[in-house]
Amino acid sequence: MLTKQYINELKQNNMGAIPSLIVSQKDAGGINFVLENLGRLPKNFDIDFLYKLLKHERPQIRLNAVKNIGKLKHSGSAKVLFDLYKNEKDTAVRREIVSSIGRQRDIKNKSILISFLRDADPKVVCQAIRALLVFEKDAETEKILRPLINHPNEMARTIIYKEFFSKNGSNGGILPHSQTYNFLKNIVVKADVLETLKVVPDESVHLTFTSPPYYNARDYSIYPSYQAYLDFLTKVFIETCRITKEGRFLIVNTSPVIMPRISRSHSSKRYPIPFDLHPYLVKNGWEFIDDIVWLKPEASVKNRIGGFMQHRKPLGYKPNSVTEYLMVYRKATDKLLDWNMRSYDYETVKKSKVADGYETTNVWKIDPCFDKVHSAVFPVELCKRVIEYYSYKGDLVFDPFGGSGTVGRTAKLLDRLFFLTEKEEKYFEYMKSKTKNSDLFEGIKSRFLTLEEFKKEAENDADRTNSKKHN
Ligand SMILES: C[S@@+](CC[C@H](N)C(=O)[O-])C[C@H]1O[C@@H](n2cnc3c(N)ncnc32)[C@H](O)[C@@H]1O
Repeated sequence: MLTKQYINELKQNNMGAIPSLIVSQKDAGGINFVLENLGRLPKNFDIDFLYKLLKHERPQIRLNAVKNIGKLKHSGSAKVLFDLYKNEKDTAVRREIVSSIGRQRDIKNKSILISFLRDADPKVVCQAIRALLVFEKDAETEKILRPLINHPNEMARTIIYKEFFSKNGSNGGILPHSQTYNFLKNIVVKADVLETLKVVPDESVHLTFTSPPYYNARDYSIYPSYQAYLDFLTKVFIETCRITKEGRFLIVNTSPVIMPRISRSHSSKRYPIPFDLHPYLVKNGWEFIDDIVWLKPEASVKNRIGGFMQHRKPLGYKPNSVTEYLMVYRKATDKLLDWNMRSYDYETVKKSKVADGYETTNVWKIDPCFDKVHSAVFPVELCKRVIEYYSYKGDLVFDPFGGSGTVGRTAKLLDRLFFLTEKEEKYFEYMKSKTKNSDLFEGIKSRFLTLEEFKKEAENDADRTNSKKHN
């Protein structure tokens, strides 16, 4: 049987026999197996044999031949590969051709690589950009690459942005990444979130987890129209983005809501909030990362299927809604997550490691929580997971729509700091009363402030004053 070890031995002892080994294979699978297991090739490997395989009818064989030709880095191979490229229909093979020519890092191939920038497949274009970036100091190359900041494909634009346009620095935060301002630590402000945020400096919070008002579905928030509601949330999340530290996360919990019909001659209307809000977020500084589904037991949700159970008539099917969404976004940056992780000291990373038993899928089965005062509170388990998975100990967790304060209490429980806003007096007072019992822990005491008190605290924070001078 053909094995990797056998191919390796042949390569060491009788390299000349490899072409005949390939020819002797009965099927394409065998040829690919040999080609994929050749590993490093000596300079004197029979390149003409590989050239012959470029004419093979199977794209995977052509691709593997191109890959091996690339390893040899023969100066003449660029022309041969370019000739193949001109008529190659398979985009994976075309991409491999660009990669193989790029591997030579030879400025003589510049014009060939430039011609790849016109490829119809953005993956091929991105590969060509990467190959050309090796010559970024070459004035002509830079002149050609820079305008690709307007390329229709977003991946291509991102590479160009990172290379030529990113300032590669934070936009105004003066504190180290892992730290925040004292006047924000364990604070609840009783005010409209947009008023509160005016006082908060850029790059202050590490994580935002929130459940916004449900359009007009509950009594605590009334908006003149659905569009006005979306515009309001957009403003909140633009401001949230500004106060978020570079590359950190926003997790928004929403679900479609239903407005009951106004009479029997009208239908009820359903608003798909997570889907309608999403485009505003990604247009305004947030990068989409994940969608997590919060799955609730059927017995805990409103019964919508009842009518259908009786009549069974198609079109009248109305499933019970047992899910909500946790949409995960990251503040757009060209820095990798690794950069964020490296901003913490060894001890903090160690203490923050997520223990065994964590959720491995994006479907989180959690029972909802019912509260006698607030009609839409987070279950503590939901907050725990979000805070543990998306923040480090000592981080500042923000909830613009504090409600009964579950995010704050859970953050404190997990050795994080919190900063919340809540505009309704009754919920603010409720939060205060709940915190009294749970604030016996060590650490920074929770404080409940009016907007005026909060503004004063902000003015007295020396770091914030310095940050204003910087901006
Ligand atoms: C869905 S509830 C959040 C519940 C919270 N997650 C909890 O666990 O208790 C939304 C909250 O946002 C508050 N809210 C609505 N508009 C606001 C605004 N403009 N500024 C601050 N809070 C607001 C509401 O009063 C309500 O308590």
